[in-house]
Amino acid sequence: MYDKNPTLEGIGNKTIDDSKQGDVFYQEQMKSDVKGKKFYIESYGCAMNFSDSEIVASILNDIGYVPTKIAEESDLILINTCSIREKAEDTVRRRLHTFNKLKKKRPGTLIGVLGCMAERLKAKLLDQEKLVDLVVGPDAYRDLPKLVSTATDGEKGINVILSREETYADISPMRLDSNGVSGYISITRGCDNMCSFCVVPFTRGRERSRNAFSIVAEANDLLEKGYKEVTLLGQNVDSYKWENPETKDVVSFAQLLVMVAEVHPSMRVRFSTSHPKDITDEVLFAIRDHKNICNYIHLPVQSGSSRILELMNRTYTREWYIKKIDRINEVIPECAVSADIITGFCTETEEDHEETLSIIQYSNFIISYMFYYSERPGTLAARKYEDDIPLEVKKRRLSDVIRVQAQVAFAHNKADLGKTFEVLIEGDSKKSDQDFKGRNSQSKMVIFPKKEGLKPGDYVMVKIDAVTSATLKGKIV
Ligand code: SAH
Ligand code: SF4
Ligand code: F3S
Repeated sequence: MYDKNPTLEGIGNKTIDDSKQGDVFYQEQMKSDVKGKKFYIESYGCAMNFSDSEIVASILNDIGYVPTKIAEESDLILINTCSIREKAEDTVRRRLHTFNKLKKKRPGTLIGVLGCMAERLKAKLLDQEKLVDLVVGPDAYRDLPKLVSTATDGEKGINVILSREETYADISPMRLDSNGVSGYISITRGCDNMCSFCVVPFTRGRERSRNAFSIVAEANDLLEKGYKEVTLLGQNVDSYKWENPETKDVVSFAQLLVMVAEVHPSMRVRFSTSHPKDITDEVLFAIRDHKNICNYIHLPVQSGSSRILELMNRTYTREWYIKKIDRINEVIPECAVSADIITGFCTETEEDHEETLSIIQYSNFIISYMFYYSERPGTLAARKYEDDIPLEVKKRRLSDVIRVQAQVAFAHNKADLGKTFEVLIEGDSKKSDQDFKGRNSQSKMVIFPKKEGLKPGDYVMVKIDAVTSATLKGKIV
């Protein structure tokens, strides 16, 4: 909903100040047209996309649409899409075909493509996927009421304009599929880096930081609703920088972390993603000095070879990354680190690949998100380098990386045997409703038998007595 929460009131944002009379008229008009219509939204890609879907839900709810989890009964089907790898786009196309069949059975249903694929392909999507009615880029969600109205009238609705200011700071997200324990808060949008493999700067536009007070207000709002954990989101959270327009004071990411941590000691704070070139000592000190800022950093390395890192335009070397890992261990010995890794980037040799395997071992990642390189049209790499590593080599290297990562994670977890951790209960474990699952500060998943009187959102102390490469198991003490 727009600014319904008093704690979010008065938060300045250029875009809402602009909110034109026409928009208000449109909304009133639509409320009577919409009357209880249902929308269904499916999200792909990164956490930011899931977080955006909650903003979209809020905007639609404000004009009278109610959410449904059943696509077959909805009047408006939205897919919030990802373009990061070719496979991600293929999945979306398959879903569109399924939804088109639904539309044939239920004429009048509108189908909309949101997010990164909408931004990348723009009007081409309308030609390629004939039954798509709406194409809306990540900075154009405020325009949804108008675009839905256009589509209802039988025309195609499209807005893929990227903004330099939009942060949706004043919109209180409608929490979808939430466990009521952890919530996302977007703090930046877009990305100003130009990693040569990456499509994000093209689909999400320039980086901009959200009003720090609106972030704190959202954390307060979650606290009031009983949440116990917030994750601050951005493509590169460390470059967060917001200037207070009145005082001209600049809030850095480390300062923001502390502001959010001070919302309440029982509220855990996490953040993602950190960039090795931008994470500062101040951020590490903030983690060290605040118990509720979790001992966990997602610090994508991408490759262990300085030569490949340079081609990727990551702007750090293997040695720089290793120094960061050393520094993290020095300042916060308990801190867990995870990474993203790409295998088979242009010109990657077996020696480069070996360096990736050894940096996984050196860094002792508790988990990695691992991918083989997928060339994306329009990126620097697609323009400058040949995608010359055969698919079977990319895949074989990926399986090497997965194997080494599993060994490293298993050893890391084994060292936790006999230790006792504070765990925030998230809900039932996947395998048994006799067990709870939750995370410790390091973000490791912990499974343990339930005990009377405990519920999701409670903190418990769990002593670890068994481990796998993916989870810790134990008992409440
Ligand atoms: N902002 C984050 C990453 C966002 S994309 C960062 O800088 O680390 C998430 C991950 O997808 C990336 O870290 C990378 O490992 C992977 N990725 C991005 N583009 C890719 C591509 N073209 N092929 C394969 N993996 C890719
Ligand atoms: Fe992509 Fe690099 Fe930006 Fe991450 S930092 S979103 S990998 S361009
Ligand atoms: Fe995908 Fe867009 Fe996120 S490309 S990874 S949904 S920013």
